[in-house]
Amino acid sequence: MSTPRAFQPTRESFDRIYRGEPALEGAPTPTGVPWDIRQAQPRLRELEALGVISGEVLDIGCGLGDNAIFLASRGHSVTGLDGSPTAIEQARSRAAEAGVLNPTAGSAGVTFDVADATDLTGYDGRFDTVVDSALYHCLDNDGRQAYAACLYRCTRPGARWHLYCFSEDNVNGLVAPMASVSEADLRDTLTANGWRIDFLGPTTYLANAAGFGSSDEELPQAMVDQMPPEALEQMQDVRARFSAIAELLDGDRVHLPFTVVHAHRVD
Ligand SMILES: C[S@@+](CC[C@H](N)C(=O)[O-])C[C@H]1O[C@@H](n2cnc3c(N)ncnc32)[C@H](O)[C@@H]1O
Repeated sequence: MSTPRAFQPTRESFDRIYRGEPALEGAPTPTGVPWDIRQAQPRLRELEALGVISGEVLDIGCGLGDNAIFLASRGHSVTGLDGSPTAIEQARSRAAEAGVLNPTAGSAGVTFDVADATDLTGYDGRFDTVVDSALYHCLDNDGRQAYAACLYRCTRPGARWHLYCFSEDNVNGLVAPMASVSEADLRDTLTANGWRIDFLGPTTYLANAAGFGSSDEELPQAMVDQMPPEALEQMQDVRARFSAIAELLDGDRVHLPFTVVHAHRVD
């Protein structure tokens, strides 16, 4: 099943979620941030253990920073960037607590800043590894093109890009709640902007089921107004499935169907 392009979250709507406010008019106050699992994503931890992360690392769309903090704690020099000032403030606080914030030049640790992934002025030629954990699917088509081009500009020859986004697949009957990305989209966008794909395949991303709301709640009016009927139906279906399995979940965590792409920069 594939998700039609639908309601597009903005940097402002993300900031509202991080402030604990409804992302959309008419929506209930969120019970939490759906992707805030307070630890690095399991698949990213595995990638790091396999020795794939090297050089100066960019965690783009870093959110609350747990992936970047994990990489810093494993000895990497990391920059976490996100469009939400509230997320960056909280990420800095988590990193300070973990003892990895603001390293001295050239040493392991993490710095966080606010930046738009479709601009990234001031970061030219800086990075050897890019990690994108659930940012790509937040952008519209033009945004994805601009973003892939920015990453080319901000990396060094030989750089690697590890990209995780909603897929069109399902995992145990669970589909992405919205905005899934086709393989053709990824291949076209990366190739057109100077990236060569070494691997593209299915993976999972851990999230909080409760963050997606329950099937008993009304969907926000702005979503109902802007999403195609099939997408709304799919969102309701996902919420119903999460509600049905809620009691079986370990700590409310669900594995969402994602695609992972490992690409390198064509020099
Ligand atoms: C689904 S969250 C993932 C956060 C984090 N990477 C994780 O896996 O926990 C997507 C993040 O992308 C950020 N974002 C969305 N559009 C952005 C943009 N144009 N520039 C920078 N960050 C953006 C949001 O603020 C949000 O923190």
